[in-house]
Amino acid sequence: MSEGIVTASYVGATILFILALGGLSNQETARRGNLFGMIGMAVALIATMSAVTANLGILIGGLLLGSTIGLILAKRVQMTQMPELVAMLHSLVGLAAVLVGFANFMDPGRLLHYTGIELTIHDVETYLGILIGAITLSGSVIAFGKLSGKIGGNPMLLPARHWMNLCLLLGSIYLCKMFVDQSAAGDGLTPLLIMTGIALLFGIHMVMAIGGADMPVVVSMLNSYSGWAASATGFMLSNDLLIVTGALVGSSGAILSYIMCRAMNRKFLSVIAGGFGTTTGSGASSASVEDQGEVVEMHAPEVAALLAESKEVMIIPGYGMAVAQAQHIVCEITKTLRAKKVNVRFGIHPVAGRMPGHMNVLLAEAKVPYDIVFEMDEINDDFPKIDVSIVIGANDIVNPSAQTDPDSPIAGMPVMEPWKGTTTIVLKRGMATGYAGVQNPLFFKENTRMLFGDARKSLDEVFKNL
Ligand code: TAP
Repeated sequence: MSEGIVTASYVGATILFILALGGLSNQETARRGNLFGMIGMAVALIATMSAVTANLGILIGGLLLGSTIGLILAKRVQMTQMPELVAMLHSLVGLAAVLVGFANFMDPGRLLHYTGIELTIHDVETYLGILIGAITLSGSVIAFGKLSGKIGGNPMLLPARHWMNLCLLLGSIYLCKMFVDQSAAGDGLTPLLIMTGIALLFGIHMVMAIGGADMPVVVSMLNSYSGWAASATGFMLSNDLLIVTGALVGSSGAILSYIMCRAMNRKFLSVIAGGFGTTTGSGASSASVEDQGEVVEMHAPEVAALLAESKEVMIIPGYGMAVAQAQHIVCEITKTLRAKKVNVRFGIHPVAGRMPGHMNVLLAEAKVPYDIVFEMDEINDDFPKIDVSIVIGANDIVNPSAQTDPDSPIAGMPVMEPWKGTTTIVLKRGMATGYAGVQNPLFFKENTRMLFGDARKSLDEVFKNL
């Protein structure tokens, strides 16, 4: 393929990626967005491969190996493990940036292609690529550990951690100067290796300091970092498509981080500085179950009867719906109630589940009509008019202590307010806390009823009784 066609294909792929992002911003166009993304990636791969003349065998081998692993993972991974998978994939982008950076530095042709200021620019690109890549790599591995529960959710707060971060930053700048000075003479591996170690430590420290309740921001932030790491790789390889695609991922991840911060009423800088999400607070956050009163149980036949005679029903899904894979039976119940002229709506909290849009994906999979699915901001004021709210495996996102307990790790996070309606039915297996590890006073309210058990089994029973 001629260079002109490759460039034109890259422009085409870039446009397709932009269309993909545009499509993914809305449930109704998300499928089309995905399709654009897939076509764009195919065009990018074919154009890139056609431009390669040497070692094509290795390239095809790598492509086949990567695709096979990707296919197996995609088939095996449970919906509930998606956030961990995404964190792991981010770490691979970081690893790729580090490896490309070192390969670039060790390339014997480097000093032949670049001299003077061009060499300095190239060296800084390599340095930054490895720096961002290493932070993304270790940060994502820790995020994987936290999301999968292998590492505790509490923030690790080292003494003088801000000073330590400042020293790491200043050290990295000094090492960059050392590296650039030495690289013209063919040296510079030592400062590069030390910086990689520092960046890996920084990534670990940064994510370890962030508490469980702020993890949604970390997920989107690492998404953004992986984009910048890819972009830096693009600079190192002089590949325009990689630069643009990385910048698209980087900036959309940054926008998502901003949206997540707004959804949780947090300032981005205070999330990064860490310390939120500790469960050592006082009041409702650490109050034991006994302190809060008694819960009132309800059984499936009564729930079905209550639903059948309601006019307004609000369904609030949370992480437990994903665990129970209850979305299909939820859809069946919705259809039945709508046939009985009950107005059923869904209220989606921006951080429900374990990844942005988690609930929307599940509901779309079960074919719940889009026009009855609402964002929290659109429906939170409607609760006083709601007869029955069904909370399916949600906990933190319906926790009133976010509004009432300033010591709670989720203090200040906007939450759904089902307690303002006539009756709330909470479906969960027991009295366990949610992701942020705090007890929920909603369960003890007078107008709350608990339907204990796996959400899918409970809803199967409700459906039979309907
Ligand atoms: P959570 O607060 O995690 O609560 C989920 C509840 O589901 C648990 O209390 C659990 O109680 C119940 N559950 C689990 N399996 C169940 C099953 N099979 N059947 C019925 N119930 C089940 O979920 P949420 O309300 O969706 O809040 C999300 C939390 O995750 C927030 O704290 C958020 O900050 C955090 N987070 C979100 C993201 C993103 S981007 N969305 C990323 C990382 C972290 P039992 O064990 O008693 O059943």
